[in-house]
Amino acid sequence: MCGIVGALVNEGSVVSDLIEGLRLLEYRGYDSAGVALMDARGITIRRRAGRIERLEAALAENEASSARAGIGHTRWATHGVPSDTNAHPHTDTEGRIALVHNGIIENYAELKAELVASGVKFQSETDTEVLAHLIGRELSRGNDLLQAVLASLSRVRGYYAIAAITKTPEGPRLVCARQGPPLAVAVTKDGAYLASDVLALIKHTRDVTFLEDGDVADLHIGRADVWRTDGTSVVRVPKRVEWDPEEAAKGTFPHYMLKEIHEQPDVLAHTAFDKIKEEKGDIDFGVPGFSDSDLRGIERIAVVACGTALHAGYIARYMFEGLARLPVDIDYASEFRYRDPVIARNTLAIAISQSGETADTLAALRKAKELGARTAAICNVEGSTLVREADATILTRAGPEIGVASTKAFTAQVAAAYMLAVRLARARGVLTPEAGRELVLELRLLRPRMEQMLGERIVSEVREVAEKNQHQKGFLFLGRGINYPVALEGALKLKEISYVHAEGYPAGEMKHGPIALIEPSMSIVALNSTGLVHEKVRSNIEQVRARGGRVISIGSDRESWAISDEHVEVPESSEWLSPILNVIPLQLLAYHMASLKGCDIDKPRNLAKSVTVE
Ligand code: AGP
Repeated sequence: MCGIVGALVNEGSVVSDLIEGLRLLEYRGYDSAGVALMDARGITIRRRAGRIERLEAALAENEASSARAGIGHTRWATHGVPSDTNAHPHTDTEGRIALVHNGIIENYAELKAELVASGVKFQSETDTEVLAHLIGRELSRGNDLLQAVLASLSRVRGYYAIAAITKTPEGPRLVCARQGPPLAVAVTKDGAYLASDVLALIKHTRDVTFLEDGDVADLHIGRADVWRTDGTSVVRVPKRVEWDPEEAAKGTFPHYMLKEIHEQPDVLAHTAFDKIKEEKGDIDFGVPGFSDSDLRGIERIAVVACGTALHAGYIARYMFEGLARLPVDIDYASEFRYRDPVIARNTLAIAISQSGETADTLAALRKAKELGARTAAICNVEGSTLVREADATILTRAGPEIGVASTKAFTAQVAAAYMLAVRLARARGVLTPEAGRELVLELRLLRPRMEQMLGERIVSEVREVAEKNQHQKGFLFLGRGINYPVALEGALKLKEISYVHAEGYPAGEMKHGPIALIEPSMSIVALNSTGLVHEKVRSNIEQVRARGGRVISIGSDRESWAISDEHVEVPESSEWLSPILNVIPLQLLAYHMASLKGCDIDKPRNLAKSVTVE
């Protein structure tokens, strides 16, 4: 998803701040980048398709700017192909303002027709350029930049995070606005900054103001005045961000994804261990919304999420039904919002999201709230929109997840769901303190088992499996019960970063169709841990072998290993928590396959870290 940065300083140049900020946002996924620099002469635009290195080369062609203000953008194309012309920033005809935008202007066609009819000549195919011309027109009517932005946004339908700069007799002016995609601002005594991700702000200050939908911020040195689009002013209190930028650095790992896979044992500890109350056989989240009185009346759960987060939701369903005896509906968030859902009385709608900014998930949560559900979030970003809008939140303490392919956030989401299932069960009186104590202790026992999964022996076993299967034309991931969603997740990881086709399927469903795919060039990854269904999975493995398929079994069921071409051993654990262990070899398999294929592991093609548009 697009990244936005902006800076206004009272001395020196903003160029390095802007480029460094864009680099910190690269992980969000993009296909072009650009900056607008404001110095005594006016606005200079530099923008290029491709990676930031091309933009830097374009900047180096010209004298280093003494720009005291500027905005920057990494674009993930929605309207118009990735090209120098379609890259942001965009300007009005007279070049008085420069604008960057993340989001979609849904009524851009009618606005563009109106502007073209008035003689405006468009340079690009983007929806964003419409807004640049609207703001330029308001400036020519004598409005200042803030008024021009407010007047222009009143014409726009859609959602956006924007930043605009213009030159005034008093110096550069920087205004930004948010409706949907995230945007935050921060001020110091020497400057003012904005970015679509807090990672690009905390080098300046840890006191960050997260703009709300409908906010417009007018930035000055040392001050940010926040307005509503109706022109009223509003006070937004900065939040202290404790993230350590070092955490977001790759450290000794070649890729963020590998670092984040290896962080998972610590993430489990940070997410869960301070919430475990062994003596009560219970969980205390330490935040409002999860007490006995909050939860006792819940009669149904509705889970909404996208991608990997939805796979965590599928696992959560087994836990909520199996432990808390609550019926659970689960939907792709993008489907839920349009299927005219029926929300039963006393439903708790749970949205799961790493970023807390996924447009479909936010829309689904708002729909559930509108239909009368109480809402909760399982989320990794404290200042995110989802956390602000949900009635209650369980934060996964995974730290910044930079790799586009979600790994540590996923296992943290599963751990959070497990804790919520225990809490729900205890609040509803369907789990005794003794049984609860066993369950919560399993969480503590999980960490050393995760560390074992990340030890050199298993990691090299998985690397070897990747090497042997690197030329296979496709993969079928099979799992049953609580490990069926792990099959979905393993398939998503593989296709997402190695671009190899892969499907996840319930093992019991294989004979209803996918079995036709079985041949030597197809690898079947069978998840099989000791539990309720391990004998069933063994017979699925036999069915595959009988048709010449190549089987890789992953799990603690030793008898499966003997009937497979390859296997990766997973230590025994509680079946409820086996998904957290079984997914690790699948994450590593995807990583090594992508590495063997020379793919861009942290920034896979076409993908964005947080999909903040529909
Ligand atoms: C997962 O590896 C993908 N990057 C993607 O499916 C992701 O899980 C999905 O877009 C949801 O993102 P969220 O958790 O930030 O809402």
